Amino acid sequence: MTFTVAIDGPAAAGKGTISKAVAVHFGFAHLDTGLLYRAVGAKVLAGGAPAEMARALDPVDLEDYSLRTPAVAQAASEVAVIPEVRSLLIDFQRKFASRIEGAVLDGRDIGTVICPDAHVKLFVTASAECRADRRYKELTGKGLDVTPEGVLADVKERDERDRNRATAPLVPAEDAILLDTSDLTIEAAIARAVGIVEAAKNAVG
Ligand code: CDP
Repeated sequence: MTFTVAIDGPAAAGKGTISKAVAVHFGFAHLDTGLLYRAVGAKVLAGGAPAEMARALDPVDLEDYSLRTPAVAQAASEVAVIPEVRSLLIDFQRKFASRIEGAVLDGRDIGTVICPDAHVKLFVTASAECRADRRYKELTGKGLDVTPEGVLADVKERDERDRNRATAPLVPAEDAILLDTSDLTIEAAIARAVGIVEAAKNAVG
């Protein structure tokens, strides 16, 4: 039986860490859908045309370590506005969501557009300052040369673009459970998410 967990939220809210931990806990597959847009964005930065790059996307492209840079994040949110790019990426995501061992997908529109029938939907958020602070630590930990102000500006700019685009904007699904991680340790946030998914699994039987 399939079981799909949709985890959405703004930039650097902790979706990735929570999604990975939930997937490991339940033995589900995990897809960070932001990587699809980052991979297309990276190819566009290298000179490609957005829709062509989305059409030619290969799962191997998602393994590129350099996709985590702020420049690629910005390029990702720019290509993510293009309806054709989004629609070219739908099939891959839906196929992944129907994996028999269960699946966790994290992104912006999983609960609203990609998997509106997901068994459980979480909308993970935190204040912009808190998210930027975590992302700053993550990026400097990887040796990237960034400033706290620059990271905060990036997070706010992408949130603004993601929330206001016409196609699949960042918005909680009506039936999503909100998880504000501003005052939670990562362990506590994971424990909450695991508890919510456990309850939904038990309800399905
Ligand atoms: O890790 P972070 O939350 O900073 O970003 P990400 O999840 O890797 O997503 C990068 C960008 O891709 C976002 O700012 C969105 O514009 C776009 N995206 C999207 O539009 N839809 C998704 N399902 C996932 C990402």
